[in-house]
Amino acid sequence: MGNLRSLRHLAIFCILANGWVFVLLSELPTLRSFTPLAERVRAYETLRANILEKEISAQLGGGVLLNSKESALNELIMLEKRRELELGLTNLSQFQAAQHFFRSNEKINKTPLFQLLRGMPKGGVLHAHDMALCSSEYLLRLTYREHLWVCVSRSQTKEYERLRFSLLRPQSEQPCEWLLLSDLRGSERGDVVDKKLLAQLTMYPQVQFDNEDAVWKHFRSIFRLVIGLLTYAPVWEEYIYRALEEFYADGVQYLEIRSVLPIFYDLVGGNYTILNTTRAMRNAELRFRATHSDWIGSRLIYAPTRKVSDARLVEYLGNALLLKSHFPDYLAGFDLVGYEAEGRPLRDYARELLAVQDDINFYFHAGETNWYGSSIDENLLDAVLLGTKRIGHGLALLKHPEVLRLARLRNIAIEVSPISNQVLQYVGDLRTHPAAVLFAQNYPVVIASDDPSFWKATPLTHDFYVAFMVIGSQKADLGMLKQLASNSITYGAFEQAQREKAFEKWNKRWEKWIDDVLR
Ligand SMILES: *[C@@H]1O[C@H](CO)[C@@H](O)[C@H](O)[C@H]1NC(C)=O
Ligand SMILES: *[C@@H]1O[C@H](CO)[C@@H](O)[C@H](O)[C@H]1NC(C)=O
Ligand SMILES: *[C@@H]1O[C@H](CO)[C@@H](O)[C@H](O)[C@H]1NC(C)=O
Ligand SMILES: [Zn+2]
Repeated sequence: MGNLRSLRHLAIFCILANGWVFVLLSELPTLRSFTPLAERVRAYETLRANILEKEISAQLGGGVLLNSKESALNELIMLEKRRELELGLTNLSQFQAAQHFFRSNEKINKTPLFQLLRGMPKGGVLHAHDMALCSSEYLLRLTYREHLWVCVSRSQTKEYERLRFSLLRPQSEQPCEWLLLSDLRGSERGDVVDKKLLAQLTMYPQVQFDNEDAVWKHFRSIFRLVIGLLTYAPVWEEYIYRALEEFYADGVQYLEIRSVLPIFYDLVGGNYTILNTTRAMRNAELRFRATHSDWIGSRLIYAPTRKVSDARLVEYLGNALLLKSHFPDYLAGFDLVGYEAEGRPLRDYARELLAVQDDINFYFHAGETNWYGSSIDENLLDAVLLGTKRIGHGLALLKHPEVLRLARLRNIAIEVSPISNQVLQYVGDLRTHPAAVLFAQNYPVVIASDDPSFWKATPLTHDFYVAFMVIGSQKADLGMLKQLASNSITYGAFEQAQREKAFEKWNKRWEKWIDDVLR
């Protein structure tokens, strides 16, 4: 009804503006019978422009007013955006943002728009997983440390199944053969080993799996391989520090890391707990903060696997409370991770989660599924009812108008990770990503990279690039980019005073970036 009424009023307004005097008309069809065609065409165009303008101002970033410097930069950015869009309109094969990311990655890197976005201060990444933060080049370098063993599959493919630091050959039941990596490198020609490692530490090159079960199977094999490399006590803190460096270099000033908090091991049988893992992460943060004055910070979301018994979940929640008491400034909250279709639905744990609702902030993954109407799909409802502060992925949100309405009312941001959704096969061509509807309504969204290491993506820029090119409207401009960056601070796990400081740091870099690019 609201829409009908505004259409009628707009139509009457433009007729009057052209000198026609009308008694108030109640409906458009009546107008048609009295008005000459030329006037109706003009009215039609005016009405059309008005509707479009209304949509543009209602979309993500539509309310952002650009100052004169920003407007100048905006022209540059929109020139590049239009150029890439035109290329796509003449030949879709040349339009990178619609391809599978494994095919477009290197071509995107060469575009001037990507280069511009790389330098842009993009705020924070609110959704990224501990094991998948750093570039493969860095991971490869880690594999050159001494005492590293690799378990090579006995099958024809001779895949690398596990990595482990050890003084002696690891004793394990693996159906693979443990070899000292340095020996293996010595016995193979050229850089065969490195190439294979690089491939196995990512999802490349396969762009099509039979279904999402198959994707997740492969996805998990990477976790299994990389975990032995990263949870070696002398590596973890250095690895986390390196992650902060890589994110910072990509225009990120704030990071919330979801971690399963793996237990360390070392060469001498040291006794570790999740407190050691957390302390190392926090040490990396403190060291990094001390030397980077415009770094806003990093925090931890404790995120163990969702496929556990009730008793284990209670243990996890106990861990979360323990972490909160030891690291109140570092722990941001709690989440459950893993393949939603295989884990238990949140509702199973409702009783346990409600019991600690007032003590721990929840940041649940939910609705990372295409199974409409299933209990996995309903995780979205459970997440909202349990008081989640944000939702990871939320791909299914549009199918739940009541949940969507409630989530908006409670100002629950959605963490959108377009490249992850594509690689894990929830979405194909990113022009069809459901978040486009959220963007159109200026629903609170943030862009995050989830597991950038596994798709050789930059810590944030690639996801920003595709969001800008095809999830937002073709007409969306610097205003949208600015809104996305500022959303990441608005919806970050901050106290109000911290949030203001965070905005200050981001603003300062934003203004400097505008000046630098214009110069
Ligand atoms: C479109 O682009 C692809 C990839 O660059 C190229 O192979 C193909 O020949 C182009 N098609 C036309 C009609 O130009
Ligand atoms: C490891 O630490 C736990 C908790 O402090 C303790 O109960 C256990 O005995 C220790 N184990 C060894 C082998 O030191
Ligand atoms: C692990 O943390 C405990 C305290 O939580 C500490 O006493 C112990 O020294 C740490 N272990 C190592 C090897 O750093
Ligand atoms: Zn995730």
